[in-house]
Amino acid sequence: MVSSESIHKIGICGIGQMGAAAAVAFQRSGYEVLLWARNVDKLESVKETVANLNTWMDEHVGPKPKEGGQIRFETELACLDEEADLVMDCIAEDMDQKVELFLALEQCSKRGAVFITTTSGLSITELGRRSNCKNLLAGTHFWNPPHLMPLVEVIRSEDTPDDVMDCVCEIVESIGKVPVRVNRDVPGFIGNRLLHALWREAIYMVQEGIAEPEDIDKVARLTFALRMPVMGPLENMDLVGLDLVKTIHDYLLESLSDEKQTQPEIHDRIEKNQLGIKSGKGFYDWSTRDASELVARRDAQIVRQLNDLRDTGAL
Ligand SMILES: NC(=O)c1ccc[n+]([C@@H]2O[C@H](COP(=O)([O-])OP(=O)(O)OC[C@H]3O[C@@H](n4cnc5c(N)ncnc54)[C@H](O)[C@@H]3O)[C@@H](O)[C@H]2O)c1
Repeated sequence: MVSSESIHKIGICGIGQMGAAAAVAFQRSGYEVLLWARNVDKLESVKETVANLNTWMDEHVGPKPKEGGQIRFETELACLDEEADLVMDCIAEDMDQKVELFLALEQCSKRGAVFITTTSGLSITELGRRSNCKNLLAGTHFWNPPHLMPLVEVIRSEDTPDDVMDCVCEIVESIGKVPVRVNRDVPGFIGNRLLHALWREAIYMVQEGIAEPEDIDKVARLTFALRMPVMGPLENMDLVGLDLVKTIHDYLLESLSDEKQTQPEIHDRIEKNQLGIKSGKGFYDWSTRDASELVARRDAQIVRQLNDLRDTGAL
């Protein structure tokens, strides 16, 4: 039986956006982190990323780091295999590579260490079954930006036992995040199912010429998004009354997009290399917009909202 009380050393595999942010979160919460990367040069450069993240957290977010936390930068996976009480996969979103990684952590599974994966969409059940750690594994879906977003979806695979779910939820809480249990390993878990239902409809409205991208975004930002930090969709439905929900759904649902494949609007834009910020154009022309200013404003807004939610006891 696993227990969060026996978890002190956290092995983190992968030093991209997720791995670096997770390492900082565990270190600031007093854990000893063994941060592993295959590539020595990259491991050297992540030290600066980690230091910058820590400074940013000190200046903007807090709380102060707990004593005793440290990060050891490791180039040998064997160190994690020998020592880690919990191992976290933060490597590329590729099933075969994740299986290979977990299979290499043979001592961890023999010792009964807990395994978690940050996959955004791969089957956690398949990963566990192919990696000989199915009874020790749960999914932990962090949100971007991972150093700020307060919630982690904890996903039960078809094989995850109760003690592993309980332990992982306690660990998530111990790093200052809110765990939410997802009882079935379904694509998109909870958050991405909700988000992509919204995105599908936004894409559909652009495709159908119903409104301009700016106006669709403006409606989202300045209407329902404003109440969402306090009121979720199901609470909102209870507020308006389910009889009214029925009246609206009776005429509205049949006109919403129910496309089962990636929509033509997305295919067309990809063909034209309109990939978004990275290619200079997507739904918007980014040659005339400041993407980094937008991301900075997003982060500042998240910090303000988190502070407000904490002050009012909602977090
Ligand atoms: N970035 C996000 O916003 C986000 C959000 C939720 C979930 N995730 C998931 O978290 C995981 C990591 O995402 P990320 O954004 O940090 O990716 P990333 O590309 O920034 O980083 C991945 C890191 O893993 C390393 N890597 C890749 N394959 C490896 C292997 N086989 N062995 C060892 N190291 C390897 C890469 O060199 C890189 O340093 C993915 O599964 C992703 O789907 C990411």
